[in-house]
Amino acid sequence: MSQIPLEIVTPRLRVRGLRPTDRPAWIDALARSLPLHAPFMPLAEPGVDLAMRFDRQLAAHEAGTSFKGVALAADGRIAAFVNLNEIVRSATMGATAGWSVHIDFAGQGVMTEALTALLDLAFAPEGLALHRVSAGIMPENLASLRVAEKAGFRREGFALKLVKIAGEWRDHVLVAKLAEEHGQRQ
Ligand SMILES: CC(C)(COP(=O)(O)OP(=O)(O)OC[C@H]1O[C@@H](n2cnc3c(N)ncnc32)[C@H](O)[C@@H]1OP(=O)(O)O)[C@@H](O)C(=O)NCCC(=O)NCCS
Repeated sequence: MSQIPLEIVTPRLRVRGLRPTDRPAWIDALARSLPLHAPFMPLAEPGVDLAMRFDRQLAAHEAGTSFKGVALAADGRIAAFVNLNEIVRSATMGATAGWSVHIDFAGQGVMTEALTALLDLAFAPEGLALHRVSAGIMPENLASLRVAEKAGFRREGFALKLVKIAGEWRDHVLVAKLAEEHGQRQ
């Protein structure tokens, strides 16, 4: 699959796929946001630093197996990170979404705006034309549950010990949204 050349502009943001030139800003943004992200995301892998993580994400994005995106503020700063992982284009036409906000932009509605744009891009026929986007959220992550709710995700279930975060297997609430629930005809 080739890279997905997509971009969505919202009132405050420009959401687009990673580019090689994002490397320094991406590393800096994640490093600064680590205190916010670490309790809720699988970050620490032994021997893998942020530069290596960027290179992996860019490679996955360029291979088209994932959409690894950034939401840029009007001044070009990275305001949020949005991903569609494990894109399946056969029978299920689905992907798993991941999201996090830059610590400097937290609590301003930016995350909801960026995630909604990601869903636009996921479901649009001229975008990824997906049928379903799923996500998993720790039950303690009330802000993320609320962001998912505001972006129109439905709760579908509960997965025990789904993801290892900070060394512990953590339960996750499973949520999903279908293209038709995002107002997209199929
Ligand atoms: C989860 C996260 C993305 C939310 O970012 P954000 O900038 O606060 O998101 P928004 O401002 O768009 O919306 C947050 C919503 O959650 C609500 N909220 C925040 N903290 C809350 C809490 N403790 N309890 C209940 N609701 C809460 C806010 O009030 C807001 O809802 P509202 O618009 O109805 O008032 C951010 O905290 C983050 O990056 N966390 C670490 C990484 C992470 O958890 N990623 C998601 C993994 S599933």
